[in-house]
Order: sequence, then C-alpha cells, then structure tokens
Amino acid sequence: MSTAQATSGAAYALETEAISKHFGAVRAVNRLSISVPRQGMTSIVGPNGSGKSTLVNLLSGVLPLDGGTVIIDGVGLKVVHAYETPDHGITRTFQEVRLFDQMSVWDNIMVALTDRRLFPALLERAQPRYREQAQRLLENVGMWEKRRDLASNLSYGQRKLLEIGRAMALDVNTYLFDEPFAGLFPQMLERVKGIMKEMRDQGRTIIFISHNMDIVRELSDHIIVLDSGSLLAEGEVEEVLSRAEVIAAYLGD
Ligand SMILES: Nc1ncnc2c1ncn2[C@@H]1O[C@H](COP(=O)(O)OP(=O)(O)O)[C@@H](O)[C@H]1O
Ligand SMILES: [Mg+2]
Repeated sequence: MSTAQATSGAAYALETEAISKHFGAVRAVNRLSISVPRQGMTSIVGPNGSGKSTLVNLLSGVLPLDGGTVIIDGVGLKVVHAYETPDHGITRTFQEVRLFDQMSVWDNIMVALTDRRLFPALLERAQPRYREQAQRLLENVGMWEKRRDLASNLSYGQRKLLEIGRAMALDVNTYLFDEPFAGLFPQMLERVKGIMKEMRDQGRTIIFISHNMDIVRELSDHIIVLDSGSLLAEGEVEEVLSRAEVIAAYLGD
C-alpha cells in the first residue's frame, strides 16, 4: 500500500497527545497536544526557546519522546523512528542545515533520492529516471547550475535551497520546515515561498517554523503558538494572532 492510500482516512495529517521532552530542568515541550489539518500550511511560532525545534525533532523522531503520543495519519506512535518517518509520510529540514559537505550538490540530491541502502543505491543511481528526477528537483530549487559544486562551497541561502530539495526528494504527504526563511535574502525568500506554495497546491501538508510574521500571515491556514513548551493558542491565523494573550506573549515583545 502506498503512503497516499494509507493516509486517506485520518482527519488530521498529524496530531500529538500530551507529548513531552525535558532537558534536565528545562521543559522544552511540556504535555503538548496539537492537531495539524490535512493539506494546507500550518505555521509554528513562539519566542526563542519556546520549544518549536524540539517539537519538530519529536515529530520527525530525531529526539525520543519522554511521554505522550504522536499520531501520524491516524496511527498512534509512542516511539517515532527517524528512519521510518518517510514511511509514515513525513520528512523535514533542519534549522541548522545538514548536508554532506564533501559531496557535490548533485550527489547530495542523489543520496536523498535513491534507496538509503548502499547496494540498491549504486544500481539506482545509474537509472535515467533517478537522473531525471534529480535534475527536476535541482531545477525546482534553482540549483541546477550549481550541481557540480561541493556543498561546502555553497552560500547560506543555496545550502537552504539544497536542503529543501533533499526533503522534496522524498515523495511524502507531510513536510516539516524548521525556519526555512531565516537569513535569506528577499529573492531566495521568494523562491522558498514559491516552492512551498507549489507543494501545498499539490495537496501536501506543510508545517513550518518562522519568526517572520508577514510570511506567517501570508502563507498559513492554521497556526500553532508555543510559549515555554506549552500550547498558547491554535487555530485560524488571523483570529489567533489577534488574541490578547498571543500579542502579549509573543508579538508584544
Ligand atoms: N539538546 C538540548 N539539550 C539541552 N537543552 C535543549 C536542547 N535542545 C533544546 N534545548 C532547550 O529547550 C528549550 C527549547 O529549545 P528549542 O526547541 O530549540 O526552541 P525554539 O526552536 O523555539 O527556539 C530551550 O530552553 C533550549 O535551550
Ligand atoms: Mg528553533
């Protein structure tokens, strides 16, 4: 059964029930329950240190849960295995971009595109359909001209674009972007926005973290506001952003 078929039943793409992650005395995420509607764009906002990245790390299985349940496409999980999340229909980018620095742009895409197991990957790489897919992905994120460059030689914005291309190499339902716009020049920023809108228009679920409230207003259908690891507000973007407690906790500072 393909991912798309497996997912058609659940009302939400992603839910959490009382999930927690503590680092010593720091309650980074504290009994947090959220629901992310299927399709469209959901933003996660909140002050620095409010637990946004930790939440994405929990949803993608990069960090183990201390407690609670992550529900992906209606399937409740007490343990989310990072290597399994593509099977559950999720992939993500990192706030601190993670690439294979000593590999070319092309190879960075190829590794994401082909089977992670070594031997099948060696065979798959030679196949025209993977080469065509890699070209399409690189063109999509505007990195085709840079395909021979080492990842370590890319600019900050180009690294972000390549990482988004790598996430898009997995054909899944839900994409998590941790601060995709941070530090980008306007032209790059528009490109990333365009890529995300295109993915949304294909019926995918996009979840992104951002501090840029203009972009949050423009892009999101649904918004989740965190404060000190807890849910401060959740709902339709303009309605939530007009609530007094949200303005006080976040927009006011
Ligand atoms: N690996 C870690 N070890 C210890 N503390 C951490 C770790 N990751 C995050 N924290 C702490 O958890 C809190 C939430 O961090 P984070 O999720 O990165 O917030 P945000 O992404 O909203 O800025 C912060 O107080 C941060 O210092
Ligand atoms: Mg963060």
